[in-house]
Amino acid sequence: MAMVRHSTSWVLLFFVVRSIASATFAIKGIHAGVNAVTGQRPFRQEFSTFQNAGPAFDLYIQALQQLTQTNQTTMLSYYAVAGIHGYPNVPWDEVLGDDTGAIGYCTHGSILFPTWHRLYVALYEQLLHANARSIAATYNSSDGPAYRVAAEAFRIPYWDWSLNPTMPGLINTPTITITTPKGVQDVPNPLYNYTFNPLPTSPGFPERDTVSQFLSTVRYPTSLDPNATSQPGKVNNQLQANAETLHDLTYQILASERDYANFTSSVFSNGNSLENMHNMIHAMVGNGGHMSYIPYSSFDPIFWLHHANVDRLTTIWQALYPNSFTVPEADSYGTFTNPPGGIEDVNTPLTPFHSSSYGTLYTSTTARYTRTFGYAYPEVQDWNVSASQLSATVRATINNLYNPSGSASKRSLPGQRLEKRAINANTAAYQWAINIAADISRIPTSLFLHFFLAAPPPSPGDWSSAPNLIASFPILISSSPAADTPTTHPRLTHGQLPLTHALIRFPAPPLPELSSRFVLPLLQTSLQWRAQRFDGSVVANEEVGGWEAVRATVVGRTVKAREADDQFPVYGPWEQWVDVGVGREEWGSL
Ligand SMILES: *[C@@H]1O[C@H](CO)[C@@H](O)[C@H](O)[C@H]1NC(C)=O
Ligand SMILES: *[C@@H]1O[C@H](CO)[C@@H](O)[C@H](O)[C@H]1NC(C)=O
Ligand SMILES: *[C@@H]1O[C@H](CO)[C@@H](O)[C@H](O)[C@H]1NC(C)=O
Ligand SMILES: *[C@@H]1O[C@H](CO)[C@@H](O)[C@H](O)[C@H]1NC(C)=O
Ligand SMILES: *[C@@H]1O[C@H](CO)[C@@H](O)[C@H](O)[C@H]1NC(C)=O
Ligand SMILES: *[C@@H]1O[C@H](CO)[C@@H](O)[C@H](O)[C@H]1NC(C)=O
Repeated sequence: MAMVRHSTSWVLLFFVVRSIASATFAIKGIHAGVNAVTGQRPFRQEFSTFQNAGPAFDLYIQALQQLTQTNQTTMLSYYAVAGIHGYPNVPWDEVLGDDTGAIGYCTHGSILFPTWHRLYVALYEQLLHANARSIAATYNSSDGPAYRVAAEAFRIPYWDWSLNPTMPGLINTPTITITTPKGVQDVPNPLYNYTFNPLPTSPGFPERDTVSQFLSTVRYPTSLDPNATSQPGKVNNQLQANAETLHDLTYQILASERDYANFTSSVFSNGNSLENMHNMIHAMVGNGGHMSYIPYSSFDPIFWLHHANVDRLTTIWQALYPNSFTVPEADSYGTFTNPPGGIEDVNTPLTPFHSSSYGTLYTSTTARYTRTFGYAYPEVQDWNVSASQLSATVRATINNLYNPSGSASKRSLPGQRLEKRAINANTAAYQWAINIAADISRIPTSLFLHFFLAAPPPSPGDWSSAPNLIASFPILISSSPAADTPTTHPRLTHGQLPLTHALIRFPAPPLPELSSRFVLPLLQTSLQWRAQRFDGSVVANEEVGGWEAVRATVVGRTVKAREADDQFPVYGPWEQWVDVGVGREEWGSL
């Protein structure tokens, strides 16, 4: 008995000592502002709405400013939290690495991609909320009450790049005007860039990486020199040139992909995936700047607006298909803690994110629902409804947002003459796309594969926003090749570029119909592609072919328009038509 009591007290002592000496940081989300009776939670709002929120927006800017000013040596600084994702490749919150050869804790090419990033964004939101509260407390007696109410309901905004395919204007100004506790002021804009203070020293950023010596984060930099500056206009041109692609991909993945693994990752799906769309935004916003190098991307403040939207799309998808979730799958690239090739499942720890102060790590099971973290999105009001009511409401909301004209009464029939403006890609009775498969272990450099209908403009500088550009597909090599996970096996990634919008709008005269009889001959004579690095330099088509690493295939499927506003269209299976000839193969083989 005495022995037992003795050992029990040792165990207790161990926990007491551990919690004093080394409590882990618990990610709890925000529970202020949640209605305990109904479960109703404050929304994360789209940036264009949130920027007019007054006190909440003022608090957001100041809370982020304060976070970015926190000494980089502290664990809850912007710098250290951003550093969880990739470089510097160091432990966070006591979770040690496992010598896997992979960079950072972030999960890409993995079934854990949505849940891991949900926690990451929740951590950021929790830190901003704490700052927002303490800042709200310093407003005087006339302004104070409104700011304190706003702080309770504070949730971060997201950027819906499908509906608003340019960056929010307010993130690209060096200063921003807000109401501070001292009145209206112009303050440095923490959404514009993050300035390292200082750049990390060993084990910091590998010198061979182009952005490693940049003192501030940049978007589409003017050059590869550390004094380069951002070119937001060029980012926006590129996003606009791909606007229909992003819009169509967003609607179609929500309306037609029913399997979580295929929804999630570019490794499991043969075509589109959440990760594929997410990669396009990383590449187009960064274009050689931080966002386009995954291990550096989270230092750019736009990362959090982007990933809040990625989490929103995950949340919408979960409401639509509530029974499909994390299944055991091999992690293609690996992380700081998870070896490449290892099987991950619903119980795999989402390192380094703790749910308690005594070391419990989250898993996909415990990160499955947004209600755990106290926020919601406007499209998914999941309180006081059954799962089937919720999915019907979400279907109607998504139809209304991304495909308002897609009902059966408004569609074109297969043999009907195409009226340019009467249909869009989401309402066509047959949809065409290009599926891309790439083995990134064989590709030496990040680049875009641009696809055109008819010859591209003569100057490569005009390619990414050419009027006849179908879309640009990014290949993201995470940093210099030597820094990538050394693998002996292929590292496959996939993506999809819709063709339908281009087939409807580009040919003059218009195609009589979108059947294979007309579409395939047109593509054979007119489909062209070019490869271009982020610095604008061209990689010759023969060189790309020589890597034997990329395969692009024309695919198509039937679409039966929706019969009711809370239903989705009925999609047929994808049919494979023809190889485009990006690899060594010529047009036509399959
Ligand atoms: C951050 O804290 C460290 C350690 O206390 C200190 O040496 C350093 O000067 C601080 N950095 C800044 C920018 O204040
Ligand atoms: C509160 O602060 C605002 C902004 O500085 C100022 O305009 C207002 O007069 C102040 N009100 C009181 C009661 O101090
Ligand atoms: C940037 O730095 C390079 C040398 O590193 C210099 O040649 C160039 O003039 C600088 N550009 C600007 C705009 O300061
Ligand atoms: C980053 O922003 C600060 C102001 O917030 C500015 O002084 C600095 O020049 C910016 N850096 C770049 C590379 O634009
Ligand atoms: C996922 O996608 C793959 C490749 O497209 C396909 O073979 C598989 O059937 C899909 N899985 C499910 C469960 O839909
Ligand atoms: C909705 O709330 C009402 C009143 O609180 C309750 O009676 C009902 O069971 C709830 N319905 C669902 C589906 O949660």
